[in-house]
Amino acid sequence: MLPLPLSLLILSLLPPALADVTIYTTLTTSAGSSAATASSAAYTGYAAFDPTTIAAPAPPSPPQPSTVPIALYAGGMDTLSIPQKGNLLGFSVELSVSDTIIGKNSSVLNVPFLNYLNNIRLRAGAGPILRVGGNSQETETLFVSGLPDGAELDKINQGVGADGVINTPIINFSPELLYVLSNVSELVNAQWYFGLAFNDTAADENALLVAQWAQDVLGDNLLALQLGNEPDLYGDHGKRDPSYNISDYMTDFAKVEGDLMAAPGVERKQTLVGPSICCNWAIGDVLDAGYLTQFGSGLAQVSVQHYPANNCKLSGVIDPEDIFPSYLNHSSAQAFVAPYLAAVPEILAAGKPMVLLETNTASCGGFLGVSDSFGATLWTIDLALQLAWANFTAVLLHTSGTSVYYNPVTPPPGNETRTKQWNTGSTYYAMLAVAETFGSSNVSQIVDLGTWETSIYAPSYAIYENGAPTRVALFNFVSDPSGANDYTATITLSGGSMPASVNVRYLSAPSVSEKYNITWAGQTLSPNGAQSSDGVLHGSLETEQIACDTTNNVCNIPMQAPSFALVFLSQEALQASTPQSGGGEALSFTPTATVGGGATGVDPGVLETSNGGVLGDGSGSTSKESGSRPVVVALAPSAWGVLLLGVLGALAVGW
Ligand SMILES: *[C@@H]1O[C@H](CO)[C@@H](O)[C@H](O)[C@H]1NC(C)=O
Ligand SMILES: *[C@@H]1O[C@H](CO)[C@@H](O)[C@H](O)[C@H]1NC(C)=O
Ligand SMILES: *[C@@H]1O[C@H](CO)[C@@H](O)[C@H](O)[C@H]1NC(C)=O
Ligand SMILES: *[C@@H]1O[C@H](CO)[C@@H](O)[C@H](O)[C@H]1NC(C)=O
Ligand SMILES: *[C@@H]1O[C@H](CO)[C@@H](O)[C@H](O)[C@H]1NC(C)=O
Ligand SMILES: *[C@@H]1O[C@H](CO)[C@@H](O)[C@H](O)[C@H]1NC(C)=O
Ligand SMILES: *[C@@H]1O[C@H](CO)[C@@H](O)[C@H](O)[C@H]1NC(C)=O
Ligand SMILES: *[C@@H]1O[C@H](CO)[C@@H](O)[C@H](O)[C@H]1NC(C)=O
Ligand SMILES: *[C@@H]1O[C@H](CO)[C@@H](O)[C@H](O)[C@H]1NC(C)=O
Repeated sequence: MLPLPLSLLILSLLPPALADVTIYTTLTTSAGSSAATASSAAYTGYAAFDPTTIAAPAPPSPPQPSTVPIALYAGGMDTLSIPQKGNLLGFSVELSVSDTIIGKNSSVLNVPFLNYLNNIRLRAGAGPILRVGGNSQETETLFVSGLPDGAELDKINQGVGADGVINTPIINFSPELLYVLSNVSELVNAQWYFGLAFNDTAADENALLVAQWAQDVLGDNLLALQLGNEPDLYGDHGKRDPSYNISDYMTDFAKVEGDLMAAPGVERKQTLVGPSICCNWAIGDVLDAGYLTQFGSGLAQVSVQHYPANNCKLSGVIDPEDIFPSYLNHSSAQAFVAPYLAAVPEILAAGKPMVLLETNTASCGGFLGVSDSFGATLWTIDLALQLAWANFTAVLLHTSGTSVYYNPVTPPPGNETRTKQWNTGSTYYAMLAVAETFGSSNVSQIVDLGTWETSIYAPSYAIYENGAPTRVALFNFVSDPSGANDYTATITLSGGSMPASVNVRYLSAPSVSEKYNITWAGQTLSPNGAQSSDGVLHGSLETEQIACDTTNNVCNIPMQAPSFALVFLSQEALQASTPQSGGGEALSFTPTATVGGGATGVDPGVLETSNGGVLGDGSGSTSKESGSRPVVVALAPSAWGVLLLGVLGALAVGW
């Protein structure tokens, strides 16, 4: 292990930032992961950084089988998925917090966020997928000549409704927001979904304007425009008449789709993604209403949104410890995917990719100790792989403000931009693991190997490329330090020979309850616990080589409880999942200073189905260094007195 940057040098003066030096803007004084044992009574800060852990579920008794047989077949297997890309698992970013997460203007991108995205790109060989939208897209307005206050995005709170529920704020934004997204794409090839307002279909001029601008600014990096966010909740949430049903929705969609077809400024007509239903309607019923045929020329993709649980406390409070076990076995992913299985083939047959535009562990902010745990990491990977097997092509994890537990990444809030770094949520690691599971070939097909029939805590998947098995993904959902629930996966290959040895990368943590001491192949994003991330992996990369039993044509892979493992069956497969240095490609962007400040209030109007509060300014300045990828900017001298700077003397590599 390389020394972690614990011993940051504290400098009083620095030369202008250098390309090969990472400057940490934070003086981390907390004790790192030891803080994870703090009691909830002691913690009064933001939910997103709450170090409180809950007890891991008791291990199964008797323990799960100690051997899990896995049979691979040279030439392929039945029920392989469509070819998938390594960027399958990405981010859903609530519009109302998009400026604080992605960047306040196109010259001030958030460097840690670029690194988080770049980590995916380097493993997937394709740009990360992001969606900007959510409930707050419904009342958005684009001001093409900019906002009066010069901001990129303004949130106008709408007070509390008669029912006591806080109204969704109005979002006004300027084209700068789209330029920010475009700049991010330029640096890390990000691909975007962007939301259109759908609150008043009679007045859709601005939605058409957004469509035009998003297409013009983002070009091919725009995947689709989301029309309607969870329309199956409009009736319940007072957005439409309480009786609002699928045929009303079809009428609404037809109105805007028709206007879009006629709008001269909107050049790409097949540009929409919908219906983005979550809760009250079944996808099959929307298809039966003629959705795919009626809107075949306007729809680019088909979407759903879904959270397996909620913490809305509308009908009783759920104790996180009670619900934790329901995330920690393969039934959870299976139950999640089941409602879509019949519809996906019909959607793909119509030529539309199927995407899960928004998900996370639980809506209304998630559960403390669950949504931010290593258990959630394992759950997210299993879910993403299960959806990939069901032929979804994108799965986007919702990311909101500081009042939620489930964010994969969270910038420091306004009052902490000068003292803290970003917080890596446990589920961010799932993005790395999923990216490497598919790798960069774009031809990876996945299959659930059915080992959940041996143990529901030990699902597994195989990746096939061009008919040959190249990787195996293994899970152990059990938390058991005694070793009694460790198992050995015995991988055999029919019709071929197992290699003499395989490479294995483990995703590890001491318990499913762990929040910060999580490593992927020996590397962590949180070298000092909460709020200690610059978006770069720290520590040395540990890929384990495990010798196989060539006499019996079997590879035995040890699986500690808990863990995830990715077994690479060939050197090429390992290479295709590993960031490659050289070729002038930067492995990380260099963060410099955090600037600005000022928390901007609370955005609970979007809390009800999924979202949370609002972040302050966590921006870091960037500019493009001539002729190379690293983004570096000299720190404004005036800020030097305020910031304590640490320097990591080593090259800031992303792996
Ligand atoms: C920032 O505000 C939060 C919430 O009020 C508080 O918990 C935290 O300690 C503050 N941080 C600093 C550095 O003052
Ligand atoms: C971008 O934001 C920075 C920091 O808030 C500010 O100094 C700069 O003037 C802004 N640039 C533009 C073009 O708005
Ligand atoms: C729709 O949203 C816009 C922009 O926020 C707002 O001006 C308008 O009043 C809303 N219309 C309805 C019917 O709610
Ligand atoms: C970001 O976009 C602006 C245009 O708004 C452009 O001038 C600038 O060069 C871009 N920066 C990067 C790093 O792409
Ligand atoms: C949907 O609601 C409309 C009134 O808004 C009603 O006329 C129609 O019968 C309803 N359709 C179904 C299938 O319930
Ligand atoms: C497994 O997960 C399912 C679905 O989430 C849950 O209902 C069940 O209780 C879990 N089983 C165990 C043994 O924890
Ligand atoms: C996914 O697509 C493949 C290839 O078309 C097909 O064989 C498979 O049955 C599909 N899987 C599901 C769950 O629909
Ligand atoms: C995979 O697809 C991405 C676009 O999503 C493309 O940039 C990349 O070159 C492709 N890789 C291969 C190996 O074809
Ligand atoms: C972190 O977890 C690993 C097991 O995954 C354990 O060996 C190590 O001691 C833990 N480190 C700390 C600081 O708790």
